[in-house]
Amino acid sequence: MKEYFKAKKISESVYWVGAIDWGIRDFHGYATRRGTTYNAFLIVAEKITLIDTVKAPFKNEMLARIASVIDIDKIDYIVSNHAEMDHSGALPDVIKEVQPEKVFASPMGVKALNAHFDLDMEITPVKTGDELDLGNKTLSFIETKLLHWPDSMFTYLKEEEVLFTQDAFGMHFASANLFVDQNDISIVKRECEKYFANILMPYSSKITALLASVAEMNLPIKIAASDHGPMFRNDDISTVINWYSEWATQPRAKKAIIIYDTMWGSTAKMGNAIADGISSTGIEIKVIPLASSDRSEVATEMLEAGAFIVGSPTINNQLFPSLADVLTYLKGLKPHNLIGAAYGSFGWSGEAVKQVNQYLTDMDVELISDGIKCKYVPRKDDLKKCFELGVEIGNKLQD
Ligand code: FEO
Repeated sequence: MKEYFKAKKISESVYWVGAIDWGIRDFHGYATRRGTTYNAFLIVAEKITLIDTVKAPFKNEMLARIASVIDIDKIDYIVSNHAEMDHSGALPDVIKEVQPEKVFASPMGVKALNAHFDLDMEITPVKTGDELDLGNKTLSFIETKLLHWPDSMFTYLKEEEVLFTQDAFGMHFASANLFVDQNDISIVKRECEKYFANILMPYSSKITALLASVAEMNLPIKIAASDHGPMFRNDDISTVINWYSEWATQPRAKKAIIIYDTMWGSTAKMGNAIADGISSTGIEIKVIPLASSDRSEVATEMLEAGAFIVGSPTINNQLFPSLADVLTYLKGLKPHNLIGAAYGSFGWSGEAVKQVNQYLTDMDVELISDGIKCKYVPRKDDLKKCFELGVEIGNKLQD
């Protein structure tokens, strides 16, 4: 396999030895329309070191890439920056086949790896500030707890100024072009934003703190080597740091998002009237029918929203299932700085609006109305109320 799965050199002694998953379309509930990569890195120093591994089914592809540079049993050390199985799934078999001298992880990483696998060797814990001598190169470690798992850490290759950042600055974007500057920047930004929204948004305050502490360390960084998608290098690194600062802060944008589902078109009509009201105030509006969208796209839109309006019919005394799915998902992601409202059509009892309000309250969305309910089909007066709600939301975002 090493004849066709080749390593790619990215720095003086660092090779990309990961795998490209062109076909994945669902990553634990996150729609990955552009596939992904599992990046792993081989440092050919006096002590040869592998940074992270890949998802288990891609183990042989990774080992073939390593074998295109060195015999795999020459690996001395493995560093596991993150225990989630897209980066550690191959680790148990790699340990068996490579028999490294040592494997390193953060203290929480040691616990997490041992909770996942029956490994053939003890993992050595490393903490923030610890250094690992590779002979002619040096690694240092920075724990990044809860970014996005308790075990997460960064590893820094001092002499070549490469920061291995596991999921941070990553994106689900399968590309054979390893660097961001070799790809379409609009796709990169969208996928990076989607990754932030769906994976990192709940930890926004920690990200702000991490960016500040890494800035204080004054580490020169030539390459920010994430475990997913194309990597940022040189001037592009400050670009992604600026994106992260903004997404983590999530200022209340002058933009409203309406999501809805509909049974016979009534809730859709109500949403259209609300959208018209919002638009009449000059505020940007995006309407997302859930019949043709998915939860991870909605989450991405939330990063640039100031208002979140949710339309659900009532079915069998409950909100519509597609709304329950998306709202449950968003509640966990903890978007912030939003105003919002609920609306929907009903036939008998109309519980959906109240149930949506509860979700929005749990998400700390500032409700600006008790919500609008309409029996069966909206008439002129109902649509007027919807339009006026839109105007109220738009005016509030203009404040
Ligand atoms: Fe790419 Fe948190 O794993």
